[in-house]
Amino acid sequence: MPSKDYRGLFDLTDKVAAVTGGAGGLGREAVLALGQHGCHVVVVDLDTSKVRHLEGAFGAMGRNISFIDADITRSDQVLQVFGDIMKTYGKLDILVNMAGINKRLPVVEFPEEDWDKIMNINLKGTFLCCKEAAKIMKAQGQGKIINMGSVSSVLGHPNHSAYAASKAGVLLLTKVLAMELATCGVNVNAIGPAYVETDLTRDYLKMGDHYESIARSIPMGRLGTPEDVAGAIVYLASKASDFVTGTLLLVDGGRCAD
Ligand SMILES: NC(=O)c1ccc[n+]([C@@H]2O[C@H](COP(=O)([O-])OP(=O)(O)OC[C@H]3O[C@@H](n4cnc5c(N)ncnc54)[C@H](O)[C@@H]3O)[C@@H](O)[C@H]2O)c1
Repeated sequence: MPSKDYRGLFDLTDKVAAVTGGAGGLGREAVLALGQHGCHVVVVDLDTSKVRHLEGAFGAMGRNISFIDADITRSDQVLQVFGDIMKTYGKLDILVNMAGINKRLPVVEFPEEDWDKIMNINLKGTFLCCKEAAKIMKAQGQGKIINMGSVSSVLGHPNHSAYAASKAGVLLLTKVLAMELATCGVNVNAIGPAYVETDLTRDYLKMGDHYESIARSIPMGRLGTPEDVAGAIVYLASKASDFVTGTLLLVDGGRCAD
């Protein structure tokens, strides 16, 4: 008989997870994957109507799913979201900060208002949610915060100035918060996917030969999938990653190893 049993490493039974941007392409797969591993999930998005059909799947699994329409750039709404989660569940085990946007233009043409909007959602919104979750998780003495970086957290893709700056900011916010919470039982990590086809990227991927040229730039020869990202989220949400904090887990088919 083996002396240890590792089969429960990814078990998330009765954990409470909040997923911002949970109605988006990567978010909704993360919601489903967390639910299938045992979580009760709170979906936070500007418009959660797109994923309300997940209620059936969660009911069948004996898990709760709830939906909060909120704007993560509004500190009053963020406070309300985390207050509601605590009122309903009395704890928060996992926060996945998925909400994000992009706009592609050269720096010299980049409108200031789009710079502000991207920074507000991708970086400030992530900060506001991290701040409220960190208070709760620190008091609990446990928790997992998973932020969405990107390969753009570390690569200088042309036309991605605001997005890359925001995602580099998310990575350093992740590292700083990981240090601040390192002795509190709270892990803070980021995921860095390469391109995945979702609403965020679909139009761009359809233009010219973008899809093929991006696939060629990835050593594994393909784009990522929402399932690739969901696997990383389950890992970082689970006991399997208890000694992992302050890192960027690249899910990029080797793009940044090149
Ligand atoms: N798709 C990719 O190729 C890719 C690659 C690397 C990183 N990412 C990151 O992954 C995350 C999810 O991306 P996606 O591809 O699922 O995009 P998506 O556009 O499908 O989903 C993003 C979701 O965020 C929500 N959102 C936007 N602003 C919000 C706000 N102020 N408050 C609350 N919710 C808000 C949107 O309503 C949407 O449902 C983003 O942070 C993105 O930068 C995506």
